[in-house]
Amino acid sequence: MTLPKIEDSRGNLTFIESGRHIPFDFKRIYYLYDIPGGAERGGHAHSALKQFIVPMSGSFDIFLDDGTDSRSFHMNRSYYGLYIAPRIWREIRNFSSGAVLLVLASEFYDEADYFRSYPAFLEAVKATQK
Ligand code: TYD
Repeated sequence: MTLPKIEDSRGNLTFIESGRHIPFDFKRIYYLYDIPGGAERGGHAHSALKQFIVPMSGSFDIFLDDGTDSRSFHMNRSYYGLYIAPRIWREIRNFSSGAVLLVLASEFYDEADYFRSYPAFLEAVKATQK
């Protein structure tokens, strides 16, 4: 999703309004930073959580998998974010040095909302498709 970008010779400005530029209201913001070379993040899905990911700085790749199809996205523009619906497995890799990844999340942190096992995720997705 492309976000508003106010271009200015002093530097660009982008803003995100809850429920307006992204398809949910956010209750939580977190960010990944000081990411060592070769690190991989994600490796899980969520049951109900909606998330929106923006590269604040640098770049990385996001791999999404809904249990049937998979897609990857190269994230390298601070005015372009990726919406991740519930029940999508995600892996995040190939962080550039100095990368900062911002996440807007629809709910407070809740470990019970995670699928941390890929087979358990697949089973849950298939059960709802029946
Ligand atoms: P995790 O969601 O697995 O990180 P990522 O998907 O970015 O690789 O979270 C890593 C750890 O941080 C895990 O122990 C849970 C904890 N955590 C919180 O306490 N609060 C939060 O808002 C988040 C996102 C994670």
